[in-house]
Amino acid sequence: MPSIADEISSRRTFAIISHPDAGKTTLTEKLLLYTGTIQSAGSVKGKSSAKHAVSDWMDIEKQRGISVTSSVLQFTYGGCCVNILDTPGHQDFSEDTYRTLMAADSAVMVIDGAKGVEAQTVKLFRVCALRGIPIFTFVNKLDRETRDPFELMEEIENVLGIGTCPMNWPIGNGKNFRGVFDRASRHVLAFEGDGRANASKKVNEIEAELGDPALDELIGAENHRNLMDDIELLDGAADEFDFDAVRAGKLSPVFFGSALTNFGVEPFLKDFLRLAPAPSAHTDALTGEPVEPETSAFSGFVFKIQANMDKNHRDRIAFVRICSGKFERGMDAWHMQGNRKIKLATGTAMMADDRATVDEAYAGDIVGLFDPGMFSIGDTVCSTSCRVQYAGIPTFAPEHFARVSQVDTLKRKQFVKGMEELAQEGAIQIFRELGAGMESVIVGVVGELQFEVLEQRLKSEYHVEVRRQPLGYTDIRWIANEPGQVDIKSLNLTRDTLRVEDMRGGKLLLFTSPWNVDWAFEHNPDLELSEFGNVT
Ligand code: G4P
Repeated sequence: MPSIADEISSRRTFAIISHPDAGKTTLTEKLLLYTGTIQSAGSVKGKSSAKHAVSDWMDIEKQRGISVTSSVLQFTYGGCCVNILDTPGHQDFSEDTYRTLMAADSAVMVIDGAKGVEAQTVKLFRVCALRGIPIFTFVNKLDRETRDPFELMEEIENVLGIGTCPMNWPIGNGKNFRGVFDRASRHVLAFEGDGRANASKKVNEIEAELGDPALDELIGAENHRNLMDDIELLDGAADEFDFDAVRAGKLSPVFFGSALTNFGVEPFLKDFLRLAPAPSAHTDALTGEPVEPETSAFSGFVFKIQANMDKNHRDRIAFVRICSGKFERGMDAWHMQGNRKIKLATGTAMMADDRATVDEAYAGDIVGLFDPGMFSIGDTVCSTSCRVQYAGIPTFAPEHFARVSQVDTLKRKQFVKGMEELAQEGAIQIFRELGAGMESVIVGVVGELQFEVLEQRLKSEYHVEVRRQPLGYTDIRWIANEPGQVDIKSLNLTRDTLRVEDMRGGKLLLFTSPWNVDWAFEHNPDLELSEFGNVT
């Protein structure tokens, strides 16, 4: 039987990030195909298919055919136990998408080869960069005309500020995409077929050495010539592979392929699992000491809370990223923030569409704990024999704002309770204008769908109808000065900048344009602003 240390060192826990439509879902599906988790591609939910909703815990999901919250896919392959954290990206983009990245040990960034680095990729990348986790790049859709790969590398470096190291290089492009050149082995991997006929099955690769006379025929004479030119350029100009820089999130290994036709998926998968990190130490915020995953007792933190997954039970599930040791269902544990002993009675894992009970899990895994309302985002649970507390999770800047008030003023109590509970759960952020009460609050969300979720939940769970007035704020900043250093009331700001307070008493400014943010800096030299709120 594998030891706890073996179990943990085999874990690869990562998230796939991308702008909508870059191919995240398709790549995920193809990873499942190549790892033998599914036998034939096409069975994973497509956006158009009704099966897309992971859970039917909310009518919104059914109506729109999307999943509102993220899930985890776990499978074993090549001696690794792989956890893919799903990061919703379309209309269902929300703060949960960001929070999920706090539970990942590495990230795969999928980029559409024709479009390059897009807006949502930048946002998600910045959260990964905040944590310094390794980021692997998969340039997708090479079966279509794409931009020049050298230009794409440059864009990644300039826009995202991370070095790039191509691990392989595309041979041809569009209909002419014939294979990849593996830079470490200096071998050509030529793909068999045109990819269209059998994209539901694995693609065959023919391996040939550079210089092999058969290459002209295998990949085409023109492709061969271009490849030789590209290699010369690459060897002279590209960053050297540096494992430490990859591990520190300073250098992104780049792979090329086409998730749709399966071309390049297997070379990526193999290298990725070889290079991706196993769980590493998290820092105990109480002592500043690292908590080693293999040698310490069980500990983890709540990164996401999902409500009402089962309509019949109206329960909440607190998703915990295990940081150290082994979880066993029914074990006694200590809830640090609640300062009390609890029984971890129900463990659930999301495996595709099913919620299965988990009996044991290890550092790197995600478990869903039954939550009668005691957990908040960022809370630590640990074995009763060890007391550690993790730093928590930052609050991410909302992008949409609305003033929300109750229609029936007699329902004030339910309104306040609902708003506070939903904010505590992390579904929305609420702000109060300085000096104002709770009769009308400003709600901030990362994805607009959260407004609908809010309205529906207030109605069904708290029986409160609300009025929503959209507000045109575009930028939000937390005041990051030491307490007492600046007086928010006497700041010199443009007239349309709003001064507000969050649930934890943090002071913030809401701006109507980036220009107003610059104005605030210019006219208040001591002012320090942050795009992330204090950790919870
Ligand atoms: P996402 O999860 O990042 O949003 O992207 P998703 O995989 O859903 O892919 C978005 C669209 O791009 C899909 O087409 C998908 O088939 C296509 N796609 C993904 N990878 C590739 C690729 O390597 N090459 C090409 N040519 N297309 C790719 P759709 O028509 O929007 O959806 P569907 O009806 O085919 O599901």
